[in-house]
Amino acid sequence: MTQFASIAGTGSYLPAQVLTNHDLAQQVDTSDEWIRTRTGIVQRHIAAEGETTCDLAEQAACRALQAAGRSAADIDLILVATTTADQIFPSTACLLQQRLGSYGCAAFDLQAACSGFIYALSVADKFIRSGSHQSVLVVGADTFSRVIDWQDRATCVLFGDGAGAVILQASSEPGVRDVRLHADGRYAELLQVPGGISQGIHLPDYAGPVGTTQMKGNEVFKLAVTTLQAMVGDILAANGLQQSDIDWFVPHQANIRIIQAIAKRLQLPMAQVVTTIAQHGNTSAASIPLALDTAVRDGRIQRGQNLLFEAFGGGFAWGSALLTY
Ligand code: ACO
Repeated sequence: MTQFASIAGTGSYLPAQVLTNHDLAQQVDTSDEWIRTRTGIVQRHIAAEGETTCDLAEQAACRALQAAGRSAADIDLILVATTTADQIFPSTACLLQQRLGSYGCAAFDLQAACSGFIYALSVADKFIRSGSHQSVLVVGADTFSRVIDWQDRATCVLFGDGAGAVILQASSEPGVRDVRLHADGRYAELLQVPGGISQGIHLPDYAGPVGTTQMKGNEVFKLAVTTLQAMVGDILAANGLQQSDIDWFVPHQANIRIIQAIAKRLQLPMAQVVTTIAQHGNTSAASIPLALDTAVRDGRIQRGQNLLFEAFGGGFAWGSALLTY
């Protein structure tokens, strides 16, 4: 009998400190009006000094475990999608395991920038479908504020910190119906944090800033819209579904104009789109599970409803998922 991966519980966490558009306008040449109209963002949450990705992940994971009625001992795989790991190693997943006390189970990190959560969801789904694992904790967590140049108005207004988590449980009913992953490394330079461990932070052939996010925003925007519009159509067609079969569209929260363009392609009213970007900006791997948890907790998303996820980000790496909650 096929074993599906079904969402048993969700959780999320945003750090306490809030940075509004008005605060940012005191620091760089921007305005609340520009940021709202171009991105839909009103504020973002910023991790306190010393507060790490694992700290955020732990809060989100505990809330997801509680919502699922599970304890850490029930978990047999921990996956953390992050671009901003606490340390070079051990993985944030192993650090999280230490906090939760679920010793002995498999734990590893996965990096696919803003698409990290969908990539991790796909891996968890395959572990469960294979029958090798029964209860998987999937976390998307990032402290993107740590890889931002706070003097660069083109990027600093876009990002924030946060974490979201789901518990996926083996079930005879879906669950995750389909996950589609894509990447095209030819676009690496359009969205990147140059420098790193192996290249080093001194790059002789690169004159630009290292260690902070560099983005050709306009080109990323156009490619994100065309790629995502095609992808959502493909995943529905491949599963024999119509737009009208989708109850909730839960997109990566990068820019409200990208989200509106995909919703238009799907002919979905914005009332069926979960948008949390105004409250926390782009939280990278955390953004889909944060939006999902918000709509589950406020009662919009109900058991038995069909959900569509999509994400696009650095790599480029992108993906989509169809689920029944
Ligand atoms: N405040 C005021 N003006 C600004 C700001 C700002 N914060 N930032 C840029 N501008 C100016 C520019 O300098 C430019 O001025 P000019 O016309 O005098 O040259 C003007 O505004 C327009 O700039 P554009 O870059 O063309 O603005 P655009 O409408 O494209 O919006 C944005 C920029 C919001 C970055 C958009 O391109 C975007 O959202 N891109 C995609 C981001 C994304 O999805 N990333 C993927 C996920 S992230 C990840 O994976 C890590």
